[in-house]
Amino acid sequence: MTVSRIRKRDESLLFLKQLIKNPKSLGAVVPSSPMLADFICSHVPILDGHLVVEIGAGTGRFTQALLRVGVKPENLAVLELDPDMCNFLKQNFPHINVIEGNASDLHTLLPEAWIGKVGTIISGIPMVNLSIEDQSGIISSSFEVLNDVGSFLQFTYGPISPLPTKKLGLKKKRLGHIFLNFPPATVWRYWKQPMIQGIHKQERKTEKFDKIREFVGFKPRLLAREEND
Ligand SMILES: C[S@@+](CC[C@H](N)C(=O)[O-])C[C@H]1O[C@@H](n2cnc3c(N)ncnc32)[C@H](O)[C@@H]1O
Repeated sequence: MTVSRIRKRDESLLFLKQLIKNPKSLGAVVPSSPMLADFICSHVPILDGHLVVEIGAGTGRFTQALLRVGVKPENLAVLELDPDMCNFLKQNFPHINVIEGNASDLHTLLPEAWIGKVGTIISGIPMVNLSIEDQSGIISSSFEVLNDVGSFLQFTYGPISPLPTKKLGLKKKRLGHIFLNFPPATVWRYWKQPMIQGIHKQERKTEKFDKIREFVGFKPRLLAREEND
């Protein structure tokens, strides 16, 4: 499939209309540059069955780059809040699942088979313009659809992380800075410690204590109660 060419004049008009209508939600004066789009999409693993979700797709600059780097249309779902932007995406990317809706409802909007199976989420949503409640809604919905080792990619124009990682329980890494964008942008990766590791750690700790208890002849309270029942 050839990557659909976004019609430049229509794109500029739509962006301008959205800038006047809802500047806070748009969070930019022009669409992202191809350099930023290529950089952020170069961090998506191109593996068989690796599902990718783009949120806040706007006019589809990242969508185009995702197809360019080799993500298969059937492995890509694109979400956008604004109905006009959404129609534009549907017209320009007819082979992709384009969904209209809020990223905080991602877990209810994606096909059921995708829940917990997504490998990467790419976000174009201006997170710095959102309240902590809204950020938290988007992040919890995103990590509900991501698999255990999945990650969340986000760009920002500011020098610091656009998401408060401690409050949201995330790990972060700055992936790079793109000067050839207006304004220059930084790309971040966020992820959660895989649950399984936490469980293993806890199990190892319990096993260690059980061995000590066994050695000193002490029965764990729960076990002693079970034996008495
Ligand atoms: C800066 S534009 C990014 C567009 C494109 N990704 C790019 O980089 O050129 C941000 C987009 O996020 C969308 N958006 C904002 N909040 C959203 C939300 N809660 N859920 C889904 N999309 C949202 C806006 O409608 C807008 O199209």
